[in-house]
Amino acid sequence: MPDKSRDGVILVDHPLIRHKLTLMRRNDTPSNLFRRLLREIAGLLTYEVLRDVKLETVTIETPLETMEAERLAGPKLCFVSILRAGNGLLDGMLDMVPSARVGTIGLYRDEATLQPVQYYLKLPEGMAGRLTIVVDPMLATGGSAAAAITRIKEAGAKDIRFACLLAAPEGIKTLRDAHPDVPIYTAAIDRQLNEKGYILPGLGDAGDRIYGTR
Ligand code: PRP
Ligand code: URA
Repeated sequence: MPDKSRDGVILVDHPLIRHKLTLMRRNDTPSNLFRRLLREIAGLLTYEVLRDVKLETVTIETPLETMEAERLAGPKLCFVSILRAGNGLLDGMLDMVPSARVGTIGLYRDEATLQPVQYYLKLPEGMAGRLTIVVDPMLATGGSAAAAITRIKEAGAKDIRFACLLAAPEGIKTLRDAHPDVPIYTAAIDRQLNEKGYILPGLGDAGDRIYGTR
């Protein structure tokens, strides 16, 4: 079972994740290490996000005999990355489930209003029949995640989970209020937002740290 689960928020705080997250938070961690750690944590998060997916039995031949073995059954999986920073999580999730379909939604926060502005959307066909995992490392005000999930629901998705690295209490409330059917998987819940909407203590701007743009 996940380590902690309350009101639709699942805290995935395995010691390995906590250790790697500490390294990511450090101001002196360079982009190449930051990216690698994010990818590794994404793999570990995927383990919990998909803990209850269904298996089916198939008959296979081992080198020694025939056996009934298990493999993932439907529904087909879709990861939806919220650009840019979502791609840092996406890579680690695809390491775990290479056959998943991938959707992309481009959103940035207007720096003055903190409101999400959409600039791109591409989703696979058949969203209604897919288990959809929306990924973004940061849940700050919650505006980006809530807007992304609204668009994904408009495309037909019904079974949606949100996975992030850090969540602020403000973002959790916004997302739970907007989409109470969507569970939130997070590696940590931080203290609060600052006046510019950054998570405290946080790790800074995830996109900039992944791509070295500042
Ligand atoms: C960051 C982050 C989230 C958003 C979270 O993206 O990756 O998408 O902020 O903030 P919110 O919960 O207050 O909406 P940003 O807007 O900096 O864009 P980027 O990923 O392109 O850098
Ligand atoms: N987006 C980030 O990248 N970092 C924050 O702390 C808040 C939003």
